[in-house]
Amino acid sequence: MTTKNIIILTGAGISAESGIKTFRDAGGLWEDHPVEQVATPEGYAADPALVQRFYNLRRAALKDVKPNAAHIALATLQSEMIARGGDVMIVTQNVDDLHARGGAQNVVHMHGELKRVFCTACDHHMDCDDDISVETTCPACKTIGTTRPDIVWFGEIPYHMDAIERAIKTCDLFVSIGTSGAVYPAAGFVQIASHYGAKTLELNLEPSQGSYHFDETRLGKAGSIVPAWVEEILA
Ligand code: APR
Repeated sequence: MTTKNIIILTGAGISAESGIKTFRDAGGLWEDHPVEQVATPEGYAADPALVQRFYNLRRAALKDVKPNAAHIALATLQSEMIARGGDVMIVTQNVDDLHARGGAQNVVHMHGELKRVFCTACDHHMDCDDDISVETTCPACKTIGTTRPDIVWFGEIPYHMDAIERAIKTCDLFVSIGTSGAVYPAAGFVQIASHYGAKTLELNLEPSQGSYHFDETRLGKAGSIVPAWVEEILA
């Protein structure tokens, strides 16, 4: 069978060689903050200014990183497959913008984006390149202090789940890249794909927690093994 429809799920490991720290490698701390403080609605309610500063710094730090060979290879795969009448959906758990800057189209950010914010009063979502603070005014409803990072925190529901699940059920190949398989629902996508008849492949530095669910696992750094795999698929 020729492969026509591919779903790619990426995690922090694909951006590691660009210089962005992965989560589990940081020992439960993100840039020296406990996850509960900066990645939960409760942490935000307790100290919105601290959480906004945390994401402001990470948003600003995007200027210092570049897409690596893995991001670029996936963008090439996507455009080539589309040109050949197929499709490649890139679903990422990452909140950085490196897939798009590497040339990928229509990237599905299931855990939100550093360069987006939204208003908790009127639910207006918007692009954001600069810092926000507890004094920021929502441009839509004019409320002050209700603009927060558009990041899916622990306890919140990931974005685009219906579209992702629909696509997984009809793909021929599901590929997971640079994710530990520790966080659901993304960690469960491989089982849905298998159940509906897709082949499954994992590309990661080490076997993920759900490695045994994949038909095949290839170990190594994303910057090397992703371009090699893309070359194979396109050959
Ligand atoms: N190439 C390939 N894989 C790598 C590389 C690399 N250069 N470096 C690290 N990895 C692998 C690690 O071995 C690990 O399995 O990437 C994985 C990163 O795992 P996590 O840090 O757990 O990141 P991720 O799976 O994306 O986390 C999922 O958890 O904290 C939440 O919302 C957050 O989106 C995040 C989610």
